Amino acid sequence: MAQAFPHGAAIARSSTPVKPVAISSANGLRAVTRAMELMREGADALDAVIAGVNIVEDDPNDTTVGYGGLPNEDGVVELDAAVMHGPTHRAGAVASLRNIKNPSRVARTVMERTDHVLLVGEGALRFARAHGFKEEDLLTDKARQAWLTWKENLSTSDDWLPPHKPDDKDIGRNLDPAVLDAFGEYFRHTGTIHCSGLDLQGNMSCVTTTSGLAFKIPGRVGDSPIIGAGLYVDNAVGSAGSTGRGEANLANCSCRMIVEAMRTGKSPEQACLDIVQSIVDHTKLRCLLDDNGRPRFDVAFYAMNVRGEFGGARIYSGGVFSVHDGTEARHHPSAYLYKKP
Ligand code: GLY
Repeated sequence: MAQAFPHGAAIARSSTPVKPVAISSANGLRAVTRAMELMREGADALDAVIAGVNIVEDDPNDTTVGYGGLPNEDGVVELDAAVMHGPTHRAGAVASLRNIKNPSRVARTVMERTDHVLLVGEGALRFARAHGFKEEDLLTDKARQAWLTWKENLSTSDDWLPPHKPDDKDIGRNLDPAVLDAFGEYFRHTGTIHCSGLDLQGNMSCVTTTSGLAFKIPGRVGDSPIIGAGLYVDNAVGSAGSTGRGEANLANCSCRMIVEAMRTGKSPEQACLDIVQSIVDHTKLRCLLDDNGRPRFDVAFYAMNVRGEFGGARIYSGGVFSVHDGTEARHHPSAYLYKKP
């Protein structure tokens, strides 16, 4: 086991610059590239990681984050985000925020312009308005089509029907495999982007931002804006973040646990794997388990310690995360518990 980080110890910041590192979820190659550019110019890690994820929040083609994110069951996009700043150990977050495409920037404003940590719903929107954030419709045509397909295939007991011929049977049933194949990319996913950075000064910060579970019940909030679950940083130890099924993470306070495991000397990858195992062990709800008793969902973690060592893990094989540690942005394989069925 690597050397532990003493609890509460102030890290001796190097007088010579530290080698910056940025890690992110698989959809964060552009985020780590931008974060690295800024950190190389001397930016604080928080400025760098927020600028990185803003690229993905602005991208209509990423249907898991910001503008173009998949909406709730009423067809309204609701965003969650949180930021945490290592050097000051301050945090800010927003949940169920409508009409503002960069919730990570609103979360940062909560951190900097209030003494609160989390604002939700209408209050978060009014706060964003007061700070000059522009309101816009976040629902793209692509996301609206995906929502409509989901709604039309939801149940036979409602009046929403997909295109059909008069004698078609089984229209409007719960999504069958053929429909899932056609729309699997969109099916109830919990994409999200997380980004953690270690800057030239040896300081760490992180951000997580998401449109949350596709077609969720309005007001549903996942792990992303919850400090200790969707992200956590201790500037003396390391930083962690998550994507995937937020409910599983919320019930396990995973990112704080990962940082505490790194504090004892566990590698970032092992710390992530341990929490993945813990989530699997704690998942008891039958409808969430397959015939082998394994989760029907996935959840992914990303972690980096203050030495710039990084790792990631998830329940099932085949996942990658994004990293930039000096040369170029690249995907790195995630550790996993089970081979994907
Ligand atoms: N991890 C994102 C969510 O569950 O909302």
